Amino acid sequence: MAANSETQVRKRMRRNGRQGTGNGRYAHIVGWGIEVPERVLSNDEIERMVETSDEWIRDRTGIAERRIADERDTTATLGLRAARKALTQANLSPRDLDLIIVATSSPTHLFPATANTIQDKLGASRAGAFDLLAACTGFIYAVSLAAAHIEAGMANAVLVIGTETLSRILDWQDRSTCILFGDGAGAFVLCASETPGGVRASVLHSDGSGGDHLYARSGVRTSWNGPPTEQSLVMNGQEVFRFASRVMAQATEEVLEQAGLAIDDVDVIIPHQANIRIIQAAARGLKLPMDRFFVNIERYGNTSTASIPIAVVEAVEQGQLKSNDRLVLVGFGAGLTWGAMLIEWDVVPSARSYLQDALRESWYILAHVRSMVRRLLRVLEAIFWKQPRDTQHRATRLPDDKEQTD
Ligand code: COA
Repeated sequence: MAANSETQVRKRMRRNGRQGTGNGRYAHIVGWGIEVPERVLSNDEIERMVETSDEWIRDRTGIAERRIADERDTTATLGLRAARKALTQANLSPRDLDLIIVATSSPTHLFPATANTIQDKLGASRAGAFDLLAACTGFIYAVSLAAAHIEAGMANAVLVIGTETLSRILDWQDRSTCILFGDGAGAFVLCASETPGGVRASVLHSDGSGGDHLYARSGVRTSWNGPPTEQSLVMNGQEVFRFASRVMAQATEEVLEQAGLAIDDVDVIIPHQANIRIIQAAARGLKLPMDRFFVNIERYGNTSTASIPIAVVEAVEQGQLKSNDRLVLVGFGAGLTWGAMLIEWDVVPSARSYLQDALRESWYILAHVRSMVRRLLRVLEAIFWKQPRDTQHRATRLPDDKEQTD
């Protein structure tokens, strides 16, 4: 390819970003659901754990309380319950799903992926499943990927989940981080349609040079014989604050430019809920009043990948996000990563059918039986399929593969 035309191609790619393929397939959000643990941890309780105050936390972050998962729950069980609600809302069966993407910053295991556990528990027997790690921007990355799969004709129905048990990777002695985060999950179901609308544009960014400002080692040693590493989240709050205050407005403007729209064409902006002062900085950067932003940080803190879907679902429930509204999702996180997405919320909730609900519930029971049978078959296979002794190994249950799903 000649140098000139290569440059033109690059320019065109930059201008277009991810705006659909133009092949008449659109990715619509047809189902949504959230799950938050019952246990509320208030600022007053944190006051008794570290040297801080309710007043300081509210003033510097906007957070009053957050939810904490109890020991029966995992990142997978929270995500599973959010996913079931989204499938019910979409009136789809798990076997309709082609792909499951779980965005999480606090998976129970390095592998297998949380998505595999959820796929098994849902009985989504036709779906591929994987986890995506882009920290708190993960949900935007995952929805963008899901939409691209649908537009390209590679999938008709995709389940996207953002789910976290961040309380398990926090250092509860570190007052600069333990006050910020909470647990929870949210899910979207995206489906193919020939009707224009749904996910219209997205921008995704990364700057790995800022990776050391927010990280969690999660048990990976620095060398094969090195000592076990800390698992807790480590953060340089001021650096992250400066970066976030800059990129939220920038990414919103960028995605609007890509979609050929102005800020006044947007009805609601749903930002990642990390700190009220960061959202206020974004509002100033965009010269918008705060009432154009949906905020629920006061009750949940920062739930990382779950923060945006939890806010979307609450915005719908409170009538602040309505059918045919134009919506911008914008977020940032460790990586450093950031991104934004423009969605036409042209969804009309599908009519509930009690028969379908009953069939779905039966399917979940069957999924459980199917999973047990598959485990049993593996045991039988190990007995009857004689391999050379030195390659034999014993499969054990995953240590945290909890059974509880409701
Ligand atoms: N309670 C009381 N005082 C606290 C405190 C707490 N929980 N945490 C920090 N402080 C103290 C500091 O020790 C410091 O004291 P000093 O002046 O005596 O040294 C003082 O408050 C100011 O600290 P600073 O870090 O400048 O506070 P801040 O205004 O930047 O607020 C954050 C701290 C963490 C709330 C803020 O930086 C932030 O939100 N950053 C972004 C983090 C984020 O969004 N992370 C997730 C990304 S997805």
